Order: sequence, then C-alpha cells, then structure tokens
Amino acid sequence: LLDRLFRVADALRRVTQGKPGADAMAALLSHKRAMLYFAQPSTRTFLSFLNACHILGLKTSEIRDTTTSSEVKGESPQDTVRTFSSYVDLIIMRHPVPGFVEKTAWVMNRAQRPVPVISGGSGKDQHPTQAILDVYTLHRSLPDGVDGKTVVMVGDLKRGRTVRSLSYLMKNYRGVKLVFVSPPQLRMEPDILDFLKRHAIPYRETHDLGPALPEADAVYMTRIQDEHDAAGESGSVDYSRFDFHAADLGRIKKTCIIMHPLPRRNEIEVAVDDDDRAVFWRQERNGMWARAALISYIFGVDEEILGRSS
Ligand code: NCD
Repeated sequence: LLDRLFRVADALRRVTQGKPGADAMAALLSHKRAMLYFAQPSTRTFLSFLNACHILGLKTSEIRDTTTSSEVKGESPQDTVRTFSSYVDLIIMRHPVPGFVEKTAWVMNRAQRPVPVISGGSGKDQHPTQAILDVYTLHRSLPDGVDGKTVVMVGDLKRGRTVRSLSYLMKNYRGVKLVFVSPPQLRMEPDILDFLKRHAIPYRETHDLGPALPEADAVYMTRIQDEHDAAGESGSVDYSRFDFHAADLGRIKKTCIIMHPLPRRNEIEVAVDDDDRAVFWRQERNGMWARAALISYIFGVDEEILGRSS
C-alpha cells in the first residue's frame, strides 16, 4: 500500500503541472466535502491537508479554535464531531487527547452515515500521515530505497509523535536499523521498543549524537516537545547536545539525508539548509502530495490518477 501511495503521489505531482491535468484532478472529488478540525496548533499539517483536498477538488470547512465551536456551550467533543459528520464526507482531525482521533474514527465507522476520519496528529502518541510522508521522503531521497538503511532519530523521542509513528512503518522494509539518540529523560517509550523487538527490527539507544552520525543514511531531527511538560521537567535537559550544526555536515555520508518534521528551533542550524542533503523543506512539500494520495485512495480515485499519468 505504501508503494502504491507513493506512485499516486508521484503521479499527482506530474499530472498537475499543466492546467488540463490539474483541472482533471480537481474534478475527481468535486462532489465531496471535507472538515478540518484542528484542536491543536498546526501550520504544515493543516495547510498540506487543506491543499491536498483542493488538489482533488474537495470543498473544505475548518475549525481551528475550539473556542469558536459549541464545545464552549458544554457540548461534548463526541457530539461536536458527530455534528461535522452531518455535513461532510471526510473528517481530518488533530487532537491533544491521546486516542481521541482513533475513538472518533471508530464511532464514525459505526454511524448511520459512516465518514472516514484521518488523523492529523493525536496527543503525543501518533502522527500517522507524517510517518507516510516521512517514508515517502526516504523513498524519494535515498538513491536505492529504504531497505537496509540506518535511520538515526534524534531528540525528544519520548513525546515526539512523529518518530513514534515512523518507527512503526519501518516494519514494511527489510534490514532497516534504527539508532535512537536522546537525552536520558526523553528516551523512546517501551511500547515502541517492544514493537521493534517483536518485528525483529534492530535498534540501539544512545545519548551521544556525534558517534552515531557517520553510520546514518538518514538523520531525523526533532524538536523538544515541551508543551507536554506538566511541571517543566524538560527545562533541565541540555538539549544543545542534540542539535545538528553545519560543522556536522563533514561527519555524515555524502548520501545521508537530513530530515525534520518541522517546526524547528535550534535543532538544525540554518546554514545547513543550503546543503543538498538537507531535505526537510522538500519533506514538508512531500506532505501535501502524500496526503492527497491518501485521500484519493480513501475515495477510490487513485487508479484514475495512475491511469492519467501513464
Ligand atoms: C510535528 C507535530 O505536530 O507533531 N509537526 C508536524 O506535524 N509537522 C512535530 C512538532 O510539532 O515538533
């Protein structure tokens, strides 16, 4: 399925370059409507989903600030979401409560008028479409595919939902090795480590970024997720040891790519952006195509896209 999505994403990129192709794509789902419900801050995920919808012609409505919805009148989040489903054919949602998006999907599946739900990020646990676009980026940017590669994930692995979801998807590839580089307080959680053990995906944990760099085929940097601090516990963490500097460019392979889900703070020095191996801005744009591919698959128009581009 991932490979199929990537082929559809590539096809969409190609086909929409000219007006006739773009118009044809925008006709595919012009009879459908999507709701974007983002109860947590978002720039990229929101904009890439919004534009992915528009590429396929879906009409969109949005709630980004829950104080403008009836939740302030005491409506339960469940009822609020149920209300969306009265008006639209697809719900895309980001929510701070772990498991909430999944629960909504379950409820919407059993509703009289089932509506698909796509997660745009759920608490600190999962961010599945980010993982899809991340693998799409690995697939596009690594010269001979994802199999057999070493991915070094750096930063707040405990609360970074992107690295958690990305770890799951590694089970679809052969011979991938993971290196988790984090402060001791912010290590990858046991549920993910157990998953990797079950699927015989080798991993190693370390606090030391420097020695991990030369073996990397991809370095995946992340931001400290201090919005999840209950009592400022990460305030004491010296995060600067988990930053990537321009000087580090000499320590990584010529083919190694540097990724980041963004937004960044100081994890990647701005001077790094000019290096060909820095792919995070391309990764951001890949998100729009990967999400459009996913939506087309959900509505069963992916075949048409592939047909049009061949
Ligand atoms: C990430 C997120 O929201 O989890 N951003 C994104 O979706 N691109 C990462 C982050 O906020 O650090």
